[in-house]
This record gives sequence, structure tokens and C-alpha cells, in this order.
Amino acid sequence: MKVFKVISLIIFAVLLFPALTFSIDLESYSCMVCHGEKKVEYLKSIHFDKGILCTDCHGGDPNSLDPEVSMSSRAGFKGKPSKKELVLLCGNCHADPKRMRQYGIPTNQLEYYRTSEHGIALFGKNNQNIAGCVDCHGSHTITSVKDPLNKVFPTNLPKTCAVCHSDKKLMGEYKLPYNTLEEYASGVHGKALLEKNNRSAPTCAGCHGNHGAAPPGVSEVGNVCGKCHINSETYFVKSPHFEAMKKKKMSQCTSCHQHHSINYPEVSMFDQVCANCHVPTSGAYKRGQQIKALILEAEEQIDKAKELIVRAKSKGLDASGYETQLEQANTGMLQVLPVTHTLILSEVETVTNGARTVAGDISSSVHNYLESLRMRKVGLGIVWLFIFFVVVVLYLKVKRADQEYELEKKKEKEKV
Ligand code: HEC
Ligand code: HEC
Ligand code: HEC
Ligand code: HEC
Ligand code: HEC
Ligand code: HEC
Ligand code: HEC
Ligand code: HEC
Ligand code: HEC
Repeated sequence: MKVFKVISLIIFAVLLFPALTFSIDLESYSCMVCHGEKKVEYLKSIHFDKGILCTDCHGGDPNSLDPEVSMSSRAGFKGKPSKKELVLLCGNCHADPKRMRQYGIPTNQLEYYRTSEHGIALFGKNNQNIAGCVDCHGSHTITSVKDPLNKVFPTNLPKTCAVCHSDKKLMGEYKLPYNTLEEYASGVHGKALLEKNNRSAPTCAGCHGNHGAAPPGVSEVGNVCGKCHINSETYFVKSPHFEAMKKKKMSQCTSCHQHHSINYPEVSMFDQVCANCHVPTSGAYKRGQQIKALILEAEEQIDKAKELIVRAKSKGLDASGYETQLEQANTGMLQVLPVTHTLILSEVETVTNGARTVAGDISSSVHNYLESLRMRKVGLGIVWLFIFFVVVVLYLKVKRADQEYELEKKKEKEKV
């Protein structure tokens, strides 16, 4: 019995030991004894996971419960850092390639941050209203940036930026718009990311950079959009607007599409957007109208073919071949919107002609089929009419023969 007790005691002690040493470690860490609230936050952070302690950021002596000692400058205590200090504090580790190498994450955050509007305002003008590292990341609650609850996770970032960029009073001081979030959320990218969870659509940082938050200048803007919209950019470069852009008379993409409140493109852009810079009597404006007409004409042909196919199918035609062809015409038309960026009529025509010809051919084949069905019906009607006619004639003939026979019989009876 005694042996059993001893063994169970040993097992108990072995099981308890690691938990005990760990909790004792934290329990006796003086900073956490007094700053319980911070401790709770900190224990969930990636810094705690990687063994970064309170003193790594704040200094001080974690072995003394006497605040005069633990938070003394003699123990290297730095207190609550100012905005500039904290940016340099984070940079102390994160900009140190030797230190960060083992984790395999970039070490360019501070370097990029210094080039951003935020960094320039902080280091140049000691502006305390801009975003430092902790305004975007938090201080004690920092988790992996891949954590969906993280403040900088793509779907959360717009709200993190909006804490300041939707603050009417604060933005007023810098003459900046305060409706950026609303505009972004109602535009194509915001809808795609926030409503459809399409992660390839850019969040704020997708265009402004994670740490280089600055509006790209007139000539840089197009590079940002073209990173993802390669097709549109390739064709844009062929247009007369490319030259105008190089002379800084307009910006590459945003002069027609806006930057935050980007709408789904529609043909009406050729009326409204072009008119912003070209009078309706100008050659440039008319070019837009010609391109619009080409697009509408091709779409009309495709719609017509679609309608005919539906009608023919209801009359029993196996239209799968035509449907495949029409699908190809539709796919061809996907090229037309990027190509419009050339503003060259012949380039647009090449695409629309392709689609129009296919749709036209389908329409005439299906139309012929429907016509032959109709002719067959008419032919059948004539045959039925003829048969009816023959039957009537025969009937009349038989009737007449009957009557003659009766008459004959009557005559014979009278004779008798
Ligand atoms: C005996 C309790 C006690 C201990 C031990 C202690 N603190 Fe404090 N600390 C306080 C009090 C009280 C304040 C002042 C009130 C406040 O700001 O919360 C404070 C303030 C701070 C501040 C804010 C300073 C400022 O400039 O606003 C920081 C940072 C801080 N402590 C970090 C630490 C760290 C790191 C340790 C461990 C090395 C530590 N504390 C140990 C009680 C303690
Ligand atoms: C990764 C660096 C880092 C670590 C680790 C860290 N802190 Fe901090 N702490 C900061 C920064 C940065 C601030 C200033 C936050 C701000 O200005 O919003 C701060 C602020 C504080 C303050 C003042 C808070 C206030 O609201 O006035 C206290 C107290 C504090 N830390 C205690 C702790 C304790 C206790 C620990 C360990 C459990 C700890 N910190 C770990 C970076 C750190
Ligand atoms: C204006 C907001 C903002 C500021 C200010 C900011 N960050 Fe970031 N940070 C981000 C975003 C956004 C990401 C990318 C998240 C992702 O990958 O989805 C990021 C990512 C990171 C990462 C992960 C590795 C990487 O580079 O992707 C680290 C580390 C980091 N930031 C540190 C810092 C440090 C240090 C500072 C201050 C010098 C800082 N950040 C300032 C927004 C910010
Ligand atoms: C003492 C060194 C040190 C300091 C100071 C420090 N960090 Fe870190 N930080 C690390 C380490 C180590 C990691 C873990 C890297 C990893 O595994 O990805 C990390 C991770 C991060 C991550 C998550 C990166 C990822 O991979 O998702 C962010 C964001 C971050 N730190 C921001 C900050 C900010 C903001 C500050 C300043 C308040 C700061 N750090 C101060 C060492 C430090
Ligand atoms: C803590 C508040 C704060 C947060 C959070 C913040 N900003 Fe800012 N931002 C500012 C202030 C203040 C300015 C004005 C600086 C100046 O002009 O001196 C500014 C300026 C800018 C500018 C330059 C505007 C111009 O034309 O001068 C851009 C771009 C910008 N922020 C983007 C972002 C993005 C993107 C985010 C989120 C990833 C973000 N900001 C988060 C406060 C913030
Ligand atoms: C599709 C790319 C894109 C996205 C996404 C984006 N921006 Fe911008 N942003 C720009 C461009 C381009 C400019 C510069 C416009 C100009 O100068 O003509 C700009 C300008 C700004 C400015 C300067 C003021 C202004 O409106 O001209 C701020 C502040 C800003 N953006 C913040 C944000 C914030 C916050 C988010 C997320 C909610 C965001 N941006 C999302 C491309 C983008
Ligand atoms: C990080 C990649 C990325 C960047 C940068 C980007 N976009 Fe987009 N954009 C997308 C994605 C993805 C979609 C599709 C959204 C959807 O699912 O509706 C899209 C959609 C669009 C659409 C609507 C297209 C359609 O057929 O409905 C337009 C117009 C557009 N973007 C213009 C721009 C402009 C202008 C810029 C630069 C200021 C820009 N984009 C920057 C990825 C990007
Ligand atoms: C001169 C005005 C103008 C400029 C400059 C311009 N676009 Fe367009 N964009 C249009 C028009 C017009 C359409 C087509 C509208 C329609 O018929 O639906 C369009 C359509 C688009 C589409 C939708 C294409 C698709 O396949 O669905 C995207 C994406 C796009 N543009 C991106 C860009 C990018 C990126 C740039 C810069 C390289 C740019 N645009 C420059 C006027 C412009
Ligand atoms: C932001 C202003 C702006 C917008 C919007 C704009 N353009 Fe232009 N466009 C210019 C500039 C600048 C030139 C260079 C020639 C000049 O200085 O007039 C130009 C030149 C042209 C040219 C070649 C020169 C000519 O006169 O024939 C054509 C064609 C043209 N634009 C068509 C369009 C069409 C179509 C749209 C709408 C889809 C459009 N533009 C929208 C500013 C604009």
C-alpha cells in the first residue's frame, strides 16, 4: 500500500512540476503581478509566444516587487514610450536582420515607414496624430498578421485606418477627405473584399503598401492599378492618353475610374466620363461614341442570337452546338473592354467584328431552321386541305351515284 502511495505521489509531482515552474515564473514576474490587465492581453500575443518579455520593451527589473526598484531608471526602465520612441523601439528588433533572420519575416517595416506620409510627418514634424506602429498593430495584443482577428488582416484593415481617416475633425486639420472608408466600401474593390470575401481585391494596403502608406503620385498611380489589371494597362499604353499622362495632363487610370469609389464599368462611361474633359463636338468625344456604338451593336447581335436559340429550343431543336459557339462569342467580347483603352477604332472593331460575325451566323442558321419548320407546317396544311378536298369530292360522287341508283330503281319499279 505504502509503495503505491509513494508511486502515485511521484507521478502527481512529475505531472505538476512543469505547470508549477511555468506559473511560478509568471507569478513571480513582478511587472505582471502589478499590471494584471496588461498581463492578460500580453499572454495572447505572438511576442509572448516567442519569449519577448515586458522588460524587452520597457526595461526595468522583473525580480523586485518594489516599484522604486523594478521601475527605476537604474534598472533601465523606460516607462511609456512616446510615439517616436515606440516606433524606434519596435524597429530595434524588427529592423535588425540578425535578430529577425530566424523567423523569416521581412525587416523593412521601419525603413518603408520612414518614407510614408505618416513617417515623414512623425520624424519631420513630430506630428503625434499620425499612425505609429501600435496604431495599426496594437501594443500588447499583437498576434500573427495571418490571424483573421488581427487589426491589419485585410478585411479588418479598412476599419483600422478609418479610426483616423473617418474622423472628420482630425482630417479637417490636414484638409484630407473623411469619407475614404465609405467610398472604398461602396466601390468595386470594397464590395469584392468586404461583401464577397474576394481576397484578390485590394484592401487599403493593397494600393498604399503595408508600411509605405502614401498616395501614389500622378505617374505612380497607374503602376499600382496595372499590377493587377495587366490587360487594361497594356492597351492603355497604346492610347493617346498615355502621352497626355506622361506630360502630367491626366492620371493613368483614376482620371476615368476614380481611386476609392471605383464603379463597375458601363457603356455610359463614354457619355459621362469623356465629357469631363472633351466637349461633345470634339473628335475625341465622337471617338468614344463610335466605340460605344460598336460595343452595343455586337451585344445586340449576341442577344438576338440568344433569343432565337431559346425559341428554336422550345420547338425541339438540339441547339447545344449553337450554344457553345455563342459562348465563344461572349468570351471574345470579354476582351473588348480592355481593348477600348487603346481608343483605336480598328482594334476595337477587330474584337467586336469577331463576336458579331459568330452571333450573326448563328442567328441566320437558327432563323433558317425556324423558317423551314414554318414551311413544313404550311406544306402539311396544303396536303391536309387536298385530302379533305378529295374526300369531299369522293363523298359527293358516291352520293350522286347513290341518288342515280335510287332513281334508276324507282324508274324500274314504275316500269313494272
Ligand atoms: C508594485 C507594483 C508594480 C510593479 C512591480 C511594476 N509596476 Fe509598473 N506601474 C505601477 C504603477 C502603480 C504605475 C503607475 C500607474 C499606471 O500608469 O498604471 C505603473 C506604471 C507603469 C508604466 C507606465 C509608465 C508611464 O510612463 O506612464 C509602465 C510602462 C510600467 N509600469 C511597466 C512596468 C514594468 C515593465 C514592470 C516590471 C519591470 C513594472 N511596471 C513593475 C506598478 C508596478
Ligand atoms: C512588444 C513590446 C511590448 C511588450 C512586450 C510589452 N509592452 Fe507595454 N507597452 C508597449 C508600448 C509600445 C506601449 C505604449 C502604448 C501606446 O502608446 O499606446 C506600452 C504601454 C504600457 C503601459 C502603459 C499603458 C497605458 O495605457 O498608459 C504599461 C503599464 C505597460 N505597457 C506594461 C507592460 C507589461 C506589464 C508588459 C508585460 C506583461 C508589457 N507592457 C509588455 C510595448 C510593449
Ligand atoms: C498604417 C498601418 C501600419 C503601420 C503604421 C505599421 N504597420 Fe506593420 N503592417 C501593416 C499591414 C497592413 C501589414 C500586413 C498585414 C498582412 O500581411 O496582411 C503589416 C505587417 C507587419 C509585419 C509582418 C511582416 C510584414 O512585413 O508583412 C510586421 C513585423 C510589422 N508590420 C511591423 C511593423 C512595425 C515595426 C511598424 C512600425 C515601424 C509597423 N509595422 C507600422 C500595417 C501597418
Ligand atoms: C525584442 C524584440 C521585439 C520587439 C521590441 C518587438 N518585436 Fe514584434 N516580434 C518579435 C518577434 C521575435 C516576433 C515573432 C516573429 C515571427 O515568428 O513571425 C515578432 C512578431 C511581430 C508581429 C507579427 C509578425 C508575423 O509574422 O505575423 C508584429 C506585427 C510585430 N511583431 C509588431 C511589433 C510592434 C508593433 C512592436 C513595437 C510595439 C514590436 N513588434 C516590438 C520581436 C520584437
Ligand atoms: C492614428 C491615426 C491614423 C491611422 C490609424 C492611419 N492614418 Fe493615415 N494619416 C493620419 C494623419 C493624421 C495623416 C496626415 C499627415 C500629414 O498630412 O501630415 C495621415 C495621412 C495619410 C496619407 C497621406 C495623405 C495625403 O495626401 O497627405 C495616406 C495615404 C494615409 N494616411 C493612408 C493611411 C492608411 C492606408 C491607413 C491604414 C493602413 C492609415 N492611413 C492609418 C492618421 C492616421
Ligand atoms: C485601388 C487602390 C486604392 C485603394 C484600395 C485605396 N486607395 Fe487610397 N488612394 C489611392 C490613390 C491612387 C490615391 C491618390 C489619388 C490622387 O492623388 O489622385 C489615394 C489617396 C488616398 C488618400 C489621400 C486623400 C485622397 O483621397 O486623395 C488617403 C488618406 C487614402 N488614399 C487612404 C486610403 C484608405 C484608408 C483606404 C482603405 C479604406 C484606401 N486609401 C484604399 C488608391 C487606393
Ligand atoms: C491587388 C490587386 C488590385 C489592384 C492594385 C487594383 N485592382 Fe481593381 N480589381 C481587382 C480585383 C480582384 C477586381 C475584381 C473585383 C470583383 O470581384 O468584382 C477588381 C475590379 C476592378 C474594376 C471593375 C472591373 C469589372 O469588370 O467589374 C475596375 C474598374 C478596377 N478594378 C479598377 C482599378 C483601378 C483604377 C485601380 C487603381 C487605382 C485598381 N483597380 C487597383 C484587383 C485590383
Ligand atoms: C479614358 C478613360 C479611361 C482610362 C484612362 C482608363 N479606363 Fe478603364 N475603362 C474605361 C471605359 C470606358 C471602360 C469600359 C466601360 C464599358 O463599356 O463597360 C473601362 C473598363 C475598365 C475595366 C473593366 C474591364 C473588364 O474586363 O471588365 C477595368 C478593369 C479598367 N477599365 C481598368 C483600368 C486601368 C487599370 C486603367 C489604367 C491603366 C484604366 N482602366 C484607364 C475608361 C478608362
Ligand atoms: C481627365 C481628362 C480626360 C478624360 C476623362 C478623357 N480624356 Fe481624352 N484626352 C485628354 C487629354 C489631356 C488628351 C491629350 C490631347 C489634348 O491635350 O487634348 C486626350 C486625348 C484624347 C484623344 C486623342 C486626341 C484627339 O483629340 O483625338 C482621344 C481620341 C480621346 N482623348 C478620347 C477620349 C475618350 C473616348 C474618353 C472617354 C472614355 C476620354 N478621352 C476621356 C484628357 C481626357
